[in-house]
Amino acid sequence: MNPYENAPIGVFDSGVGGLSILSACLNNLPSESYLYIADSAYAPYGDKTDSVIRDRVIQVVSYLIERGAKAIVIACNTATAAAVHECRELFALPIIGVEPGLKPAVKISQSKRVGVLATQYTVESQKFQSLVMQLDQQSDSITALGCPGLVELIESQHTTSQELEALLTPYIEQFERAGIDTLALGCTHYGFVEKEISALFRDPVKVIDTSTSIALEVERRLKAMNLLSSTRANGSVELLTTGKDREVLCALANRLVHFEGDVTPIEVSK
Ligand code: DGL
Repeated sequence: MNPYENAPIGVFDSGVGGLSILSACLNNLPSESYLYIADSAYAPYGDKTDSVIRDRVIQVVSYLIERGAKAIVIACNTATAAAVHECRELFALPIIGVEPGLKPAVKISQSKRVGVLATQYTVESQKFQSLVMQLDQQSDSITALGCPGLVELIESQHTTSQELEALLTPYIEQFERAGIDTLALGCTHYGFVEKEISALFRDPVKVIDTSTSIALEVERRLKAMNLLSSTRANGSVELLTTGKDREVLCALANRLVHFEGDVTPIEVSK
């Protein structure tokens, strides 16, 4: 038996977005225990500089390791693009990141025109640009747009559908002009407004969600290192936040992962 097998898996995001990944992990690996941090004091990550995001991600990962995590899931495209390589160099435990589902999108697109909606940071990041270079054979088949402000609207409990529509419409029009039939949501927050996004397109588009494949990757990495929990009983979920507003996190966690406990406020500093 590996002495760490019953330790928790640390999962984090700048806010509620990573709960979609946590939910998929719980479905796939229900016997594991999870420690989730919503780093809301630093949200959104997407409008910060490289070095600010990188330093913050390293602080959050260090905190999770100090709390005994056996593996880390960076449930945020922006944080992954900024710091997954550095974290893998610094820390010896398995670190799983997320990236926009561009490969599956390109594979299934009939029109060979796909869209990506993500944070400005992710779209401009070197990691994402290399993926585009690799996959964009016709040099105009991928339309990737950064959508500043959408994370904030999703984090706020009082956002109206009119506000969402007003923010999203120019992006949808640009995707329609490009003729896309498949859309990869490159920010873990955006899945919470997938229906609203889909409804704004005149013709149906296929929306790609990668949370299940991330959960399978977590399983594969834990298995390879003999770190899967050997208990049969259900594991636990502990929710932590660096922010002040716990309501949205509690409500979404209740809806998505049937979480009924309290959210614990924490401070993550050097
Ligand atoms: N959920 C994060 C992502 O996937 C949001 C980033 C942000 O805070 O801007 O990119």
